[in-house]
Amino acid sequence: MTKNIAVIRGDGIGPEIVNEALKVLDKVAELYGHTFSYTDVDMGGCAIDKYGDPLPESELKKCVESDSVLLGAVGGNKWNDVPGFMRPEKGLLRLRAGMGVYSNNRPAKIWPQLADASPLKKAIVEKGIDFIIVRELIGGIYFGEHKTEGDTATDILKYSESEIERIGRIGFETARKRNKKLCSVEKSNVLDSSRLWKKVMHRLAEEYPDIELSDMLVDNCAMQIVKNPAQFDVVVTENMFGDILSDEASMITGSIGMIPSSSLGATSCGLYEPIHGSAPDIAGRDIANPIGTILSAAMMLRFSFDMEKEADAIEKAVSDYLDKGYRTADIMSEGMTLVGCKQCGELIVENLKGE
Ligand code: IPM
Ligand code: MG
Repeated sequence: MTKNIAVIRGDGIGPEIVNEALKVLDKVAELYGHTFSYTDVDMGGCAIDKYGDPLPESELKKCVESDSVLLGAVGGNKWNDVPGFMRPEKGLLRLRAGMGVYSNNRPAKIWPQLADASPLKKAIVEKGIDFIIVRELIGGIYFGEHKTEGDTATDILKYSESEIERIGRIGFETARKRNKKLCSVEKSNVLDSSRLWKKVMHRLAEEYPDIELSDMLVDNCAMQIVKNPAQFDVVVTENMFGDILSDEASMITGSIGMIPSSSLGATSCGLYEPIHGSAPDIAGRDIANPIGTILSAAMMLRFSFDMEKEADAIEKAVSDYLDKGYRTADIMSEGMTLVGCKQCGELIVENLKGE
């Protein structure tokens, strides 16, 4: 197959981690007879420096016209003082909205090799951590009106039934492919938008009698994720709750540097990115962990290109790398071999096997 991938390296460690993911994709192409061509896209702080705009229309167009987008990370202290509408993160939000990718899938799964890296007690980790957060990505407070007047600032949190319904369906469908348990997370004891959320989820549940639906308030969910993460299979929630809970969920698996994500809308053109940020403090030092990005590339192959075997091969190569005891600094522990970002990418490439 021939696929055109839009590549956004972004800021901070973005270029380093994306380069390693591209090496992995190139090797997969060679082993499985595919052609991946890459179109470079500028987004984030680097685009502000170059064009005075975190995502110019022409750059967004390249993404929308691609077969899928691979993104490193954007942002950094350098652009902290620019006005809100010009921040690097605004480019990312415009990209998500412009591509219409309303459904963000963030797995929280512990790699057995990294069980010791979890900050949770062994007894909790041993019960298993393997769930997915399905986060609504292009609505809610992120996209409501933002305004500051004098000494008062306002952000609007708004959801329509149809926006809730389309992400709700993704939650039910995801649960159907797994252990058939869906937990809908909201704050219906306080927010109108959450009461609407809950109502729509229960209406949808009638169409999915095989799925066990439960409701949980977001503050309780934050607690349950550290108390008993084994209870979760699929969690579906709105944009900001999903942002917060997915950072928490990633941390209990050991390292935010290991977690990939996929964002999809109505077409197969998806956006794939690690869930961590641009880590400007370690940028350019060849110490970042590229695995979150490498696994995001695997998700791209699986969800957008239907390349199941190829995605499995990448995940197996990552697992073999961990089995051999290699670790980047973020997940380093006693007795393991410390490697840099480049070496990590190269070792994973070496482990890749064809059919
Ligand atoms: C994420 C990030 C982004 C978000 C930021 C960079 C805008 O935290 O992808 O989780 O809040 O969605
Ligand atoms: Mg976040």
